[in-house]
Amino acid sequence: MTILKREEWHDITRLTDWDFSYVDHETAFPIWMSGGEGTDRNAWVNWREDYRNSYAEYVGTQREKDAAAYSVKAALQRSEIYDNLPEGWKSNAKLHFTALTAIEYLAVPAELKMARFGLTGGWRNMAVFGAMDEMRHAQINLWFSHEFVSKDIHYDWAVKSYHTNNWVIIAARALFDGFMTCTSAVDVALGLPFTFETGFSNLQFVALAANALDSGDVNFANMISSIQTDEARHAQQGGPSRTPRNTPSGSSTARSGCPAGSSRSPPAPRWTTTPRWRVVSSPTRSSWRSGSASSSSPRWRTTA
Ligand SMILES: [Fe+2]
Ligand SMILES: [Fe+2]
Repeated sequence: MTILKREEWHDITRLTDWDFSYVDHETAFPIWMSGGEGTDRNAWVNWREDYRNSYAEYVGTQREKDAAAYSVKAALQRSEIYDNLPEGWKSNAKLHFTALTAIEYLAVPAELKMARFGLTGGWRNMAVFGAMDEMRHAQINLWFSHEFVSKDIHYDWAVKSYHTNNWVIIAARALFDGFMTCTSAVDVALGLPFTFETGFSNLQFVALAANALDSGDVNFANMISSIQTDEARHAQQGGPSRTPRNTPSGSSTARSGCPAGSSRSPPAPRWTTTPRWRVVSSPTRSSWRSGSASSSSPRWRTTA
């Protein structure tokens, strides 16, 4: 049997899609979950992920990454490296585990939202990989921090932090909920991969790995580098979601939000404080329930 090269079949599988016969498109992809109001739905076919892989490639690569990170951890567990780390660096590591471990887990449903409601097949595929990435990141952060709980109870904050009302955590919770929990797929793509992962995770994680090595924490450097390689891949979901080609206006950054009056309503006042976005109107409750919220009644629209 001839085995096709990946590049010979991948375009077919990544763009496989369905025309629905039992329900209209707006019901299957309601605008308040998918986003992208004012965008020609056909334009999303041109959404392109530059860094591609198949499921088999993904699983093979991730297995190697995990094997590398966890074997270094197992080897160093018996050393005295931790006892000799500078206190300043330990505080840095604690802050990382405290602020980001649970957020990695929060990113799983955010990625899954794009995996379900993303407006083209390639994007949905990438988001499935992204969801599995974020699950791995939550697990690896929990496992690496757990080792140190017996030496320093502060490491317990990797689990505990987001169950407290510590003021730093309140701010972080509001920030991450704002762009991951109560947003459409397009909103998630703009807030998470385009803004946060490209502008923060990628830069901060590379610097943090270098910082860890400088301090002698090979274990942490190895862990954060392993995470960063995933972030670099799934951060690419943001760029093409910002500007699908062939749109009439050349811009697709119209925004949607959770339906007005629902328990998942977005934090409207926060968005209106930025100059880039303004509230236009809210879809009626009946319109989003029936899936007929139209581009004439978006909750958010770009002014740029
Ligand atoms: Fe992550
Ligand atoms: Fe991520």
